[in-house]
Amino acid sequence: MKKILFILLAGVFVGGCTIGMGAGTGGHHSGVSIGASTELNAGNPDKRRELKLPAKVKVRQKAKMREHMQTLSDITRAIYENDLQEAGTIAHERLGWNEKEEKKCKAVSEKTNEPEFLKLGMAVHTKADELSKYALAGDRDKAILALSELINRCNGCHKVFRH
Ligand code: HEC
Repeated sequence: MKKILFILLAGVFVGGCTIGMGAGTGGHHSGVSIGASTELNAGNPDKRRELKLPAKVKVRQKAKMREHMQTLSDITRAIYENDLQEAGTIAHERLGWNEKEEKKCKAVSEKTNEPEFLKLGMAVHTKADELSKYALAGDRDKAILALSELINRCNGCHKVFRH
């Protein structure tokens, strides 16, 4: 009996760690899973709001997020190579605000009953358009500053929402 109890408790603990590490992947910029589990052990669970979406939609959303990471990398490289036309084009075409993006962000907002999701999403896409404008105008410094602000806006949503 004692042995069974031990196994049960061990199961709860391991399960808890897994949840903690999942949250760490999405939101903690340190990316150190030990930090996440320490928080959990200190009785300080992730307080961000969960986006109540079906598991399949979450998988799709995270795939989209990884695409966004690639886009940031491609923009950064284009700026490094002094190809500001390319940087501006990527920012506008892959991260800019348009009807399709609006429809997608709105759908998530409505499905989850979280109007802030749309607001935070729009903040990212409009900043990408600003970056694009500076890059296409040949203003490298302002484009880099906009890129930094853009990354902050990505994180702006990560600070509020989780899966
Ligand atoms: C409006 C909300 C929102 C915005 C804006 C947003 N994200 Fe996310 N992102 C999320 C959510 C929600 C998750 C899932 C977090 C979790 O797993 O708990 C996520 C997860 C991620 C992940 C982890 C993907 C994985 O495979 O686990 C990456 C990387 C990411 N986002 C990158 C970005 C980048 C880059 C941007 C900006 C260009 C961005 N996100 C903008 C909401 C957002």
